[in-house]
Amino acid sequence: MTTPNPKEVSGRHAADLVKSGMTVGLGTGSTVFFALQRLAERVRDEALEIRGVPTSLDTEQKATEMGIPLISLDEATSLDLTIDGADEVDPDFQMIKGGGGALLREKVVASITVKQVIIVGRNKVVERLGLAFLLPVEFVPFAASTVRRALQALGCEPMLREQDGQPFVTDNGNRIFDCRFPEGIAVPRELDRSICCIPGVVESGLFIDLAHVLVIGEEDGTVEILQKH
Ligand code: A5P
Repeated sequence: MTTPNPKEVSGRHAADLVKSGMTVGLGTGSTVFFALQRLAERVRDEALEIRGVPTSLDTEQKATEMGIPLISLDEATSLDLTIDGADEVDPDFQMIKGGGGALLREKVVASITVKQVIIVGRNKVVERLGLAFLLPVEFVPFAASTVRRALQALGCEPMLREQDGQPFVTDNGNRIFDCRFPEGIAVPRELDRSICCIPGVVESGLFIDLAHVLVIGEEDGTVEILQKH
């Protein structure tokens, strides 16, 4: 018998919440991959009719290969439901996202979504954000030095994200600082506002009031569903 994968059980469960006729935001990451697989199965086997809006070039490519019909963000004024992962979620449903670098498009899509369904394994649910995971901040390359100093003034240690020895470049041509907060993040809402006010910052990986449903995958193959009240 194979051991259940919490990412897979939460991803597949979320994909089963989608109904025909919906416009669906498609998040990014390894958990979302399982949701895409299940959506593709339903498109093929149940003639599920959906229009997907991808949050990254990676998801666009995967969804296209799997046969999920896509539209651009310009063609949608609002999204019925978005399925996305997270790096950390706290008891108020506030989140850190951007481990995969897709935070900007993910936040734009979340901002016009009626029901944001977040799929995570139990290990991503934390009491305080930022203790175990670094906070990603996307910024324009021109402003690297000034953004770094401003982030340091907020009490963190920003580290330029690299890939293959080079600065990581987002889908939007920007860069990312991964920020270590030694004591974690005490008030996520305030920190998000402060970071987003720094000239040159494009977006912070703090997602405030943007999750409506949590689908938490367990090691035993079950899911726990939590709704934001
Ligand atoms: C992408 O930039 C992120 O926001 C992802 O949603 C997040 O990192 C979760 O990814 P995994 O499902 O791969 O852990």
